[in-house]
Amino acid sequence: MKLTLTHAACFVPAGSLSHLADMTAAANQLLESGKGAGNDFLGWVHLPSSITPAFLDEVQETANLLRQKCQVVVIAGIGGSYLGAKAVNDALAHTFDAYCTDRKDPYVVYAGNNIGEDYLADLMEFLSDKEFGIVNISKSGTTTETALAFRLLKTMLEEKVGKAEARQRIVAVTDAQKGALRSLATKEGYKTFVIPDNVGGRFSVLTPVGLLAIAVAGHDIKQLVKGAQDMEKATGTDVDYANNPAAQYAAMRNALYQFGKKTEILVNFNPKLHFIAEWWKQLYGESEGKDHKGIFPAAVDFTTDLHSMGQWIQDGERSIFETVISVKEPQKKVVIPEDKENLDGLNFLAGKRVDEVNKMAELGTRLAHVDGGVPNIHIEIERVDEYNIGAMLYFFERGCGISGYMLGVNPFNQPGVEAYKKNMFALLNKPGYEAESKAILARL
Ligand code: PA5
Repeated sequence: MKLTLTHAACFVPAGSLSHLADMTAAANQLLESGKGAGNDFLGWVHLPSSITPAFLDEVQETANLLRQKCQVVVIAGIGGSYLGAKAVNDALAHTFDAYCTDRKDPYVVYAGNNIGEDYLADLMEFLSDKEFGIVNISKSGTTTETALAFRLLKTMLEEKVGKAEARQRIVAVTDAQKGALRSLATKEGYKTFVIPDNVGGRFSVLTPVGLLAIAVAGHDIKQLVKGAQDMEKATGTDVDYANNPAAQYAAMRNALYQFGKKTEILVNFNPKLHFIAEWWKQLYGESEGKDHKGIFPAAVDFTTDLHSMGQWIQDGERSIFETVISVKEPQKKVVIPEDKENLDGLNFLAGKRVDEVNKMAELGTRLAHVDGGVPNIHIEIERVDEYNIGAMLYFFERGCGISGYMLGVNPFNQPGVEAYKKNMFALLNKPGYEAESKAILARL
């Protein structure tokens, strides 16, 4: 992975960055020493290097059982218990995976990440004539969206194949001891994996939360972890600022924020990375958006969104910066053919790869946006494969931890997400919420 800051550095006054560069070392040291805010959630820092081959074999073995038994595996989870697996699986899958019928891998679909009645009805319709299994992921074990979907799918599976067989096709990923899902899994005798206490949801993609679903989809979790392990080394406290991409990224985004750039747009020129941006939005939004501070994380897919959001980015309020993820080498090759008649006027592109056009669109866009007053951070990854995705995920995690501490917030809590839950439970008359129910009804 290569990080280039040239087109961002020119937007901050000379000298301001060196102070922030010094701050990154202290922030990174806080992650290492465990003396900063939220220090009971730092299990992710050395997670990659602590993963053993035996553990990966156990995850793979469970994935293989599901792969043998099931045409479809439903991954039930939300937020940090959903986005990592979805991001990696989407990045690595065939773009038209959902429509490929001649397949060796099961379909992987998702549930428990919304409360859409139509979504769940459609899902159950789709599953009705399929052999399916469920990976139910919830650290707390009490998240409404996930628990609701699981109740429906578990009932359906048990009715379809019987309780004993359903037990073989359900895996629970949850806390070691606490929560309704742990009790339910123990009672039903499901295979379980533990989400470590000291790893928060949005940092949990390299625990069984992400790894099992990624292995079920047929991707190489060993390579994914290897990429993360190498990035863990490349971003440690023993790596100086000049060579530490996570520290440089954290310093630059904080510098831009201090000079009025309040929104960061993560840009890709490869649609497979769409959900990497969704995962990144949660990582940075939930980690930094607190105490009335924090860069707003947004995302676009280019060139698609150049035809919708391009105008705003080029010419709108100058409060944004872009971080572009560029993929050096596509997995596949498509060459543009010559056309004798040239009615579309595209013969100037004949013989070129499609990616060459895409790369020039990317370069042209970056330059235009810089000219328009949008600072540009550039991240280049070699290709979209397990190793490079694993490295990039850890790079963003480490950058987030450093950046959050530089901002002066606790990057590892999320008190704000409880507010909607409290209201929803009050409105639904959940036992234990009687006073809140009364209060909220009085407001309506
Ligand atoms: O990052 C987080 O903590 C959240 O996004 C959670 O992962 C999400 O709310 C799901 O929680 P749980 O795994 O407890 O069901």
